[in-house]
Amino acid sequence: MYLTKEQERMLDGENGEIVARMMRLLVRLGDIYNAEKMVKVASVQVSGVSYKSIGDPGLEFLQDIANEARVKVLTFLNPAGMDLEAWKEMGIDEEFAKKQLEIINAFRKMGIVISATCTPYLAGNLPRYRQHIAWAESSAVSFANSVIGARTNREGGPSALAAAITGYTPMYGLHLDENRKPDVVIEVNANLKCNSDFAAMGYYVGSAVKNRIPYFRGIEDADTDQLKALGAAMAASGAVALYHVEGITPEADKFDELNNLEKIEFGEKEKKETYEKLNTGEEPDIIIFGCPHASLNEMVRIANIVKGRKAKKPFWICTSRAVKEVAMRMGLDKVIQEAGGKIVADTCMVVSPIEKLFKTTAVNSAKAAHYLPGFCKQKVVFGNMEELLI
Ligand code: F3S
Repeated sequence: MYLTKEQERMLDGENGEIVARMMRLLVRLGDIYNAEKMVKVASVQVSGVSYKSIGDPGLEFLQDIANEARVKVLTFLNPAGMDLEAWKEMGIDEEFAKKQLEIINAFRKMGIVISATCTPYLAGNLPRYRQHIAWAESSAVSFANSVIGARTNREGGPSALAAAITGYTPMYGLHLDENRKPDVVIEVNANLKCNSDFAAMGYYVGSAVKNRIPYFRGIEDADTDQLKALGAAMAASGAVALYHVEGITPEADKFDELNNLEKIEFGEKEKKETYEKLNTGEEPDIIIFGCPHASLNEMVRIANIVKGRKAKKPFWICTSRAVKEVAMRMGLDKVIQEAGGKIVADTCMVVSPIEKLFKTTAVNSAKAAHYLPGFCKQKVVFGNMEELLI
């Protein structure tokens, strides 16, 4: 792979051993994928933040890096294992909290923005069209590539951190025009009313297309919350990192030779079967929204549904600290509390240790429904926001 003088100096250790280690990792990755060169990244999002996921070995790895290296570009974090402020209210034990805060301190020392969210684009890290970035969280990767038209591969925790510390990523995969073309057409013949309908469709399509690039036809309208639910589900049941929606996503108009591509239909029958498949439980102990992290718009919608009423079950809304702050200024936290709910920031139902608290969780996210049984030993009730709440 071609390296500039600056990149060679990093590799040779002129900027310290950690920078050299990170550059070696990126060069190896580039060699595996036949990258011709590196590309500068405008921002990074790092995964592997929850103590539940990375444990003590991960903490030690991060502390070693933090002792020597600093990030070069705007870098955000994926959700942590708890609300970094209100962890006691979540029922998190002291030992877990101590370790989680040590992880956060290591990231802080590296110069990373302590914004632990899977929706960085809603919280101050918004790339532009065609900008190269290195993000790790699969739903954020999908949103950035598909809805914004930025360019990122689905990074692992270490390769994202290496991009943050060097400012570069190898130029291969979705950074290149030729790899962003659709592989399969999805003909949508279902009525899509709410986020969970889009999530169910994403779940079905992700299972069918695996890591290929789907091109959706027949979606009349979709807001950004629905697109984030769709992309998150496809990244969970398959490994879809980029999708196009005719008339809606920014790159869709570039492709007109679709007739020779394989076609898959998503209709009412497939929608119903996916809802049935994702439901493995009956009586939830709790309802948790915000996978991916709730937008302010979703927060307002939930508050409007429960205003002046009690929800059927206690509920949490997972979101970024930035959205929580604004929601509190708007008084939404009071409305939510009176209905039996809590706004939980910095974390989510999958990366926090909810298995110590609940057995059955209700969600409107197909991604959460996919991971909760394995990661958190939960039975799952999957449905739409309004029906779950009232
Ligand atoms: Fe985000 Fe957690 Fe879902 S990281 S996408 S809320 S599983």
